[in-house]
Amino acid sequence: MKFFIDTANLAQIKEANDLGILDGVTTNPSLMAKEGIKGEEAILKHYKTICELVDGDISAEVLSTDFAGMVDEGKKLAAIHPNIVVKVPMIKEGVKALKWFTDNGIKTNCTLVFSAGQAILAAKAGATYVSPFIGRIDDSGWDGLELISQMRQIYSIQGFKTEILAASIRNPNHIIKCAEQGADVCTCPLDSILGLLKHPLTDIGLAKFLEDAKKM
Ligand code: G3P
Repeated sequence: MKFFIDTANLAQIKEANDLGILDGVTTNPSLMAKEGIKGEEAILKHYKTICELVDGDISAEVLSTDFAGMVDEGKKLAAIHPNIVVKVPMIKEGVKALKWFTDNGIKTNCTLVFSAGQAILAAKAGATYVSPFIGRIDDSGWDGLELISQMRQIYSIQGFKTEILAASIRNPNHIIKCAEQGADVCTCPLDSILGLLKHPLTDIGLAKFLEDAKKM
């Protein structure tokens, strides 16, 4: 399973990248706004900076909701760097845009996916990645991990090449469960990635080893 970080914060991207286990970055308009990135020039520049920091796929989301607008924006985003993946919302115009990007060799990430039906459409349109938002599904009282499992089954039976990119991760256990369910990628906040490191017995064990090392 590939690890992406789900942020537009450069310090967090660097910290995750320094671990040596980072395969890419996902952003969205909310995450960009959180970093105070405003205006087309600043947005494109920020994506370029991220591409220079991390050697992996970097998702950059279109803001248009019509086919022509998405294609125009997607072309501009894809021109920033070969690692840019154009992030497209799961709406009717988005499906058309996904197909256009697929036919024109531009990588895509279909976002805001909450059902198996949407996941099938994204795969049919040739999306490179599809992003089920498992945390938001859990928040609504449904089971996000169940969707990952259903998508894995459908994609495997049907031979769809689209990679399942589990998004809206809330905690380390989500990451472990996504790995169990066969997600291809997990995009996570830095805290959830670092949470995987933690175990009290590791800390206790290390303290004892270091104490005993003084007697060596
Ligand atoms: O980047 C898309 C997704 O990961 C958003 O997560 O935490 O806003 O539900 P969240």
